[in-house]
Amino acid sequence: MTETSTDMAALRREMVETCRRMNSSGINQGTAGNLSVRTATGFLITPSSLPYDVMTPDDLVEMDFDGTYVGRRPSSEWRFHRDILKNRQDIDVVLHCHSMYATTLACHHRTIPSFHYMTGIAGGTTIRCAEYATFGTQALSDNAIKALEGRMACLLGQHGQISLGKTLESALWLAIEVETLSRMYVQALTLGEPPVLPDDEMERVIAQMKRMSYGLAPDPDGTNDVARPRAAD
Ligand code: 13P
Repeated sequence: MTETSTDMAALRREMVETCRRMNSSGINQGTAGNLSVRTATGFLITPSSLPYDVMTPDDLVEMDFDGTYVGRRPSSEWRFHRDILKNRQDIDVVLHCHSMYATTLACHHRTIPSFHYMTGIAGGTTIRCAEYATFGTQALSDNAIKALEGRMACLLGQHGQISLGKTLESALWLAIEVETLSRMYVQALTLGEPPVLPDDEMERVIAQMKRMSYGLAPDPDGTNDVARPRAAD
């Protein structure tokens, strides 16, 4: 990946826009949450303790994978952003927030089971909850990496959630889906532990989601094998 200074300026603006959308969509508030995006030389990350409504593109911090940075003090969670971006070459964006229902489940150390087919959006039959560790520590990063194995999202015990993406748009979409799914699960639990879909059905669901790039509009390669765009006259 190579970026010109124009690309970097655009990326900074898009990150601020995404942060504001985290707040306006209701999945984040105050100084909770953080966001990072891979760049040619490292990554850009939100600064620590700066509310998104006053954050400007210049406030975003440029970090290297060795932990050195230019600009303001980076998010206290720079370790898990760095480690996930380093460990997961399949993604370029890491989004963390304390959304209400995902955090409610995380406070009870609940893994989200396949009680609903949409659990498959994170790439497996469950969305795991990482073991608790103090915020900003290497231990939290190690626990998150483990919970994210083969997954695009996880909960963080007594803390919040992490969602990953190739793009800012897809990471935000996934974080909102994880929150919606968490809300459904909390609601379903009021009637008792709901039944789960069997693994072979979840395999079909996940394969179908991959084939259709499910939920990501516009469908990047048009692989929905039933409906096709009509040819122009
Ligand atoms: P930062 O403001 O340092 O990013 O911290 C917010 C947070 O959510 C910590 O987990």
